Amino acid sequence: MSAAETVRDGSVHDGLVKDRSVHDGSVRDGPVRERTPARRAAAAWHADPYVRALHAGRGPLFLRRTDGWMLPLDVERWCADADAADRTVLRRCQGPALDIGCGPGRLVAALALRGRPCLGIDVSQAAVARTVRAGGPALCRSVFEPLPGEGRWGTALLIDGNIGIGGDPQALLARVAQLIAPEGLLLVEAATVDVDERVRVRVDDGRGDVGTAFPWARVGVPALLHHARAVGWNPVEQWTARDRSFVSLRRTPPPPRSATER
Ligand SMILES: C[S@@+](CC[C@H](N)C(=O)[O-])C[C@H]1O[C@@H](n2cnc3c(N)ncnc32)[C@H](O)[C@@H]1O
Repeated sequence: MSAAETVRDGSVHDGLVKDRSVHDGSVRDGPVRERTPARRAAAAWHADPYVRALHAGRGPLFLRRTDGWMLPLDVERWCADADAADRTVLRRCQGPALDIGCGPGRLVAALALRGRPCLGIDVSQAAVARTVRAGGPALCRSVFEPLPGEGRWGTALLIDGNIGIGGDPQALLARVAQLIAPEGLLLVEAATVDVDERVRVRVDDGRGDVGTAFPWARVGVPALLHHARAVGWNPVEQWTARDRSFVSLRRTPPPPRSATER
C-alpha cells in the first residue's frame, strides 16, 4: 500500500493519521467555522484569481502590496513536477512529512510516489483537489486549525514563500513547533533577498481580477534565523539550489562540538 493510500484509507501509519476528514483524499472544507483571524486570512486564497490560475496551471499571478508593488507567483513551477531544487528538499525529509500550504501539491505527490508517508494541507479547495489528482494525500484546512498527527510529524515543509502564511513568522513557527515531533525537522524556503516585512497583500492576476486583502510576510535567511531562534528553533543547515534559499531547523539544540572539532 502506498503512503497516499495509507492516508486516504485513514489507516494508521506510525499512529499518525486517524482524522476521518482525510479518509477520502479530502477535498472538502468541513462545517462552517468561526471567522477567526486565521480563517479570514485564509479566505483570500479562495479568491478567483488564484483558483483560475490553478485550474489553468499558469499565471500571471502576483501578491500585490497596498503600495502597488507586485510579487510574482510562480504558478507554472508550482503546477509542474518537483524540480532539482525541490528534490534537495525532498531528500532531507525524515519520517512522515507535512507540507503546509501545499498548493497544487508537487512536493506531496513526489513524496507519495516515493512511498513516503505525507500529507498536504491547504486552505484552497482548488489546490487540494489538484494535489489529490496528482497523487498526493491532502486535506483542506488551515495550519492554525487542529490537524491530524499533531506533535508527531517527522518533517514539516514551508516552501515557496509559505513562511509568509498568516503574516507573522514567529506565530507560524510557534504553531509548527506544536505539529512536529520533538526531534522533527522543519524545512523552510526563505526569500533570496535580505528582507523582513509583514504586509497586507491581495492575490492579483495583473489584469484587474483581485482578491481580498490578507496579511503576509517575507523573510530572507537572516530574518528567518532571527524569528526562528526567538521561538526556540535551532538552525541545522542552510543551502541554495537554482537560486532558491533553504534553511532546516530543529527544536533540539545541535550536539556540542567535540574538542577535536574546535
Ligand atoms: C505561496 S502559495 C505556495 C504554493 C505551494 N507551496 C505550491 O507548491 O504550489 C501559498 C499557499 O498556502 C496556502 N495557504 C494560505 N494560508 C494558509 C493557511 N493558513 N493554512 C494552510 N495553507 C494556507 C494558499 O492557499 C496557497 O496554496
